[in-house]
Amino acid sequence: MKFKYSCLSRRRFLSWLGGGWLVTLLASLIYPLFKAVIPPYREPDEVALPLSEVTELPPNSIKFFSWGIKPGILKRNEDGYLVAFVGVCTHLDCNVQYLADQKRFFCACHDGWYDENGQNIAGPPPKPLRRLFLYEENDKLLIRREEKK
Ligand code: FES
Repeated sequence: MKFKYSCLSRRRFLSWLGGGWLVTLLASLIYPLFKAVIPPYREPDEVALPLSEVTELPPNSIKFFSWGIKPGILKRNEDGYLVAFVGVCTHLDCNVQYLADQKRFFCACHDGWYDENGQNIAGPPPKPLRRLFLYEENDKLLIRREEKK
């Protein structure tokens, strides 16, 4: 029985190797340019929401807002106080949802759970949901990344 197989000629192999080298070189030149044109994500220092939108929020309910490219969650507790979180799981950044009937936050990616205060209580999340700081100013609710000093 005779086997048929094709073998790369030396010339073809060297040509292929040279092409790969050229592609690698071009990629190493283009990547820094690409990174300079599209800078990395930076989250906002502050987001302002009209107070009129917030006052309508009933107890034990949430409102989503944009926190840069991530969702933010504003929640009114049963006692009327407002709290705000970055609405992504601390495990691998999936979006979380609030289950009002269970008073818990849920991450569907890997079955992660947080209590109503954002504390991680079950599943893989290693840390609580990230809290944001709230301030009232004139007719706006300011949601800040860091505490005002
Ligand atoms: S990303 Fe939320 S549990 Fe894994």
